[in-house]
Amino acid sequence: MTCEHIRLSDTIPTHLTAVLLPFNIHPLLHKLIMPDTRVWGTDVDTTKAIDSFFCSNEGLAVQEHGLRTVPNMLAMTDLYLANNPNDEEVKNILKDPLYKRGIMLGSLLHDIGKMNVDPTILRYPGELTREERIQIETHPAFAKTLLEKSPNHTRALEIPYSHHEKWNGTGYPRGLFGLSIPLLARIFTVADVWDALTSVRPYQHAWTEIDANRHINSLSGTSFDPKVVDIFNIMCESKLLSTQEGM
Ligand SMILES: [Fe+2]
Repeated sequence: MTCEHIRLSDTIPTHLTAVLLPFNIHPLLHKLIMPDTRVWGTDVDTTKAIDSFFCSNEGLAVQEHGLRTVPNMLAMTDLYLANNPNDEEVKNILKDPLYKRGIMLGSLLHDIGKMNVDPTILRYPGELTREERIQIETHPAFAKTLLEKSPNHTRALEIPYSHHEKWNGTGYPRGLFGLSIPLLARIFTVADVWDALTSVRPYQHAWTEIDANRHINSLSGTSFDPKVVDIFNIMCESKLLSTQEGM
């Protein structure tokens, strides 16, 4: 285990630990953070590349952001599933006994495809060129090439592969529209943006919860599924969403 791995394990917030314990997250997290071919079902060179990425500052940021999205994603999904019991996608998810494991894995690993992006682009604080944006936009498809090698990751894959799709069809990588975007990805997109806005980043102060809420609501029906934004609003009103500061 490298020092960076220890750093991440040591910084799992108490609040997050409490949420994840019932799902036996620690052994799972340990496996994720200690990449090996048994977990990834992939070749040695790729496994080494994953390990190396996780040890970099960019890889550490990807893991920490991924970790923070987990409790919000689990809670938002629970509420969405409870409020929409007759929805076919909901019935399908509930038939899968391991769907919560898929949510955790998918959330934790949603940006792992960024290991395929030049780190100088990932840390660049200014406006990116078109070519740089194109490179960043390869990360969902790259995550798919990593995760689809293991049958254990089928449910988890929905999140990394589709978390940049938009409700109005202008997202990437496939430009999926509306309900053709997998439900877990539609929910995760909101959890992802919430965490991105309310966290301190190298190029941005953390937004207030009120501003982040306004921003997400302004994109309901364009970037986000309006039914998911309704769930998000219930969570906000009940103060059930965590933030980096709150952890
Ligand atoms: Fe992403």
